[in-house]
Amino acid sequence: MQPSRQPSRPIRELPDELISQIAAGEVVERPASVVRELVDNALDAGATQITVRLLAGGVRLISVEDNGMGIAPGDLPLALRRHATSKIQSLQELEQVSTMGFRGEALAAIASVSELTLLSRTEGAAHATLLDARSGELQPGARPQGTTVEVKELFFSTPARRKFLKTDSTELAHCVEAVRRHALTRPEVAFAIWHEGKLVEQWRAHSGEQALERRLADVLGEDFLQDSLAVQGEGPNLQVRGRVGTPDAARARADQQYAFVNGRFVRDKVLSHAVRAAFEDVLHGQRQPVFVLQLDIDPTLVDVNVHPTKIEVRFRDSRAIHQAVMHAVDAALAAPRTALAGAPLAPTGLREEPNRPAAVPWSQPRMTGWTSQDRATLQALWQHPGAAGAPAGADPRVARPHDATEPPVAAQATPAEAPINRSWTGPAPLGDAREASAAAAPAPDEAQTEEWPLGRAIAQLHGIYILAENRQGLVLVDMHAAHERIVYEQLKQQCDAQQLAAQPLLIPASFAATAEEIACAEANTETLAALGLEIAALSARTLAVRAVPARLADGDVVGLARQVLADLAQHDASTVLERSRNELLASMACHGAVRANRRLTLEEMNALLRQMEATERADQCNHGRPTWRQLSLRELDALFLRGR
Ligand SMILES: Nc1ncnc2c1ncn2[C@@H]1O[C@H](COP(=O)(O)OP(=O)(O)OP(=O)(O)O)[C@@H](O)[C@H]1O
Ligand SMILES: [Mg+2]
Repeated sequence: MQPSRQPSRPIRELPDELISQIAAGEVVERPASVVRELVDNALDAGATQITVRLLAGGVRLISVEDNGMGIAPGDLPLALRRHATSKIQSLQELEQVSTMGFRGEALAAIASVSELTLLSRTEGAAHATLLDARSGELQPGARPQGTTVEVKELFFSTPARRKFLKTDSTELAHCVEAVRRHALTRPEVAFAIWHEGKLVEQWRAHSGEQALERRLADVLGEDFLQDSLAVQGEGPNLQVRGRVGTPDAARARADQQYAFVNGRFVRDKVLSHAVRAAFEDVLHGQRQPVFVLQLDIDPTLVDVNVHPTKIEVRFRDSRAIHQAVMHAVDAALAAPRTALAGAPLAPTGLREEPNRPAAVPWSQPRMTGWTSQDRATLQALWQHPGAAGAPAGADPRVARPHDATEPPVAAQATPAEAPINRSWTGPAPLGDAREASAAAAPAPDEAQTEEWPLGRAIAQLHGIYILAENRQGLVLVDMHAAHERIVYEQLKQQCDAQQLAAQPLLIPASFAATAEEIACAEANTETLAALGLEIAALSARTLAVRAVPARLADGDVVGLARQVLADLAQHDASTVLERSRNELLASMACHGAVRANRRLTLEEMNALLRQMEATERADQCNHGRPTWRQLSLRELDALFLRGR
């Protein structure tokens, strides 16, 4: 069908009112946008108490009341004029802007699509003044210092917009979320939200060192605090702080991800990508991490004037931001929470987490604020048993084959410092653990073994789980998953230190290979060498694994070779080490790790537990699944309906 032809019309300038309605569409999409703008203004005015009242999800009424500095009566009409602002005066000031507002547009835009009144009183004024935006009339009013903005009948003059609004409860939820975003970064300000005369949310003001933590708990729940880790990091002219949820606390939806730049809530790809990158190998499947992160940055290094609703920003150096955020989050995630869990483990040198809540149940991962030095201290603790009340080695009830003077197993958690020089001796269940037991340290007394976070191994279940006893009750460990993580972390460290040395196998492991596999092995000899692998063709149909990283020599080397070749075939060889190194190392770790259905001795199990305690990210396997679980005595009692 032909479109009906319109008679041609002359070009005309739009009337001002229509211009502002169109512009308002960008700023005011729904009631929540009004709430966000009005709360922005209240915060800019220095308010410490902000009350939001809504009717019909904000469509009939939005009122935002603050105790800020107020607007002088003479300035009231200006406040409603487009492009009139008290916040900046020049381009230079725009570049350094630290207030939420700067365009002088919000109130004008809102007033153009609603019935708006401003009631305000400045310090020392004899009374408040009321301005009705429609009539432009000013008259005396009553209220203490501060400002109340009332917005009624949103979009009453633009029914097309109004039609796009959802149910009252949906709009209300968006309004609450808008206030929540402000509340998460401004703990010193008290907020209250009322809907239809009922109090919906109320967040008290907090001050002092723990203010932010308290506010996060108020807004996101105590669970968030318990299941999250403190993030603290720095970069050039910037600071990252906040909390990230533990991998276990990740959610199916990305609904608890809050990023703030200089106190402004933003959706930013650089930031979210940086967080995801840090979670790369501890998150299971499509799970979404939970985080509240605040980036404080020199305002000249970020452009806030790129989006009508200011929800996007542009960084001058996004690489630096990415690095800083990724490292800060990574550091928070890396500290093994197994080691943190048993408080007595950390008596010296470990910085007290200042924001640690008083009583966190033991089985909950604790907050961390560890520096790499802290971690080094921990490692030293393991390496020099006996120091500062540290656990001192293997279990007394475990047979000790030799009296050895070497450090116990956890010393090997720093592979860079612990060169491994074992020759291939055929498949062994758990190479390290074996060495560990051979190098058992002086026997600790029972009280000490009780302090081991993951406890003392007592049995193996169906060749899959290790059962261990600790102070709190029973620990269940998925031995393959745990060992896989340990091996993976060691491979990463060795690779970083360029010490992922190939160890020649005494008897090369040959296997029947496809032409593709052989071609892939030949095309990637350098990449394979960097991964500590040597795979060469023996014949047109056979490949031989001649060398593997020492750490993996006891594992399934053929499976490992096949997997790596398959991975390599999928990637562009020239960039594979940059982009997919961790994936490759993870596949390798999977084959190097102890398989299910291997019988472990108690000392091997204990050695594995101690290694977990000393390994970064040991709480999750390489695929993000948990490696261990605590069953407390109380939970066990409950299973048996046993009162205590
Ligand atoms: N709650 C308030 N308390 C004190 N002054 C206010 C308040 N709300 C608005 N104002 C004054 O009115 C002016 C206009 O507000 P408006 O929100 O329209 O623009 P802005 O905040 O300057 O910039 P933006 O459009 O980016 O929000 C502000 O610059 C400020 O001086
Ligand atoms: Mg504003």
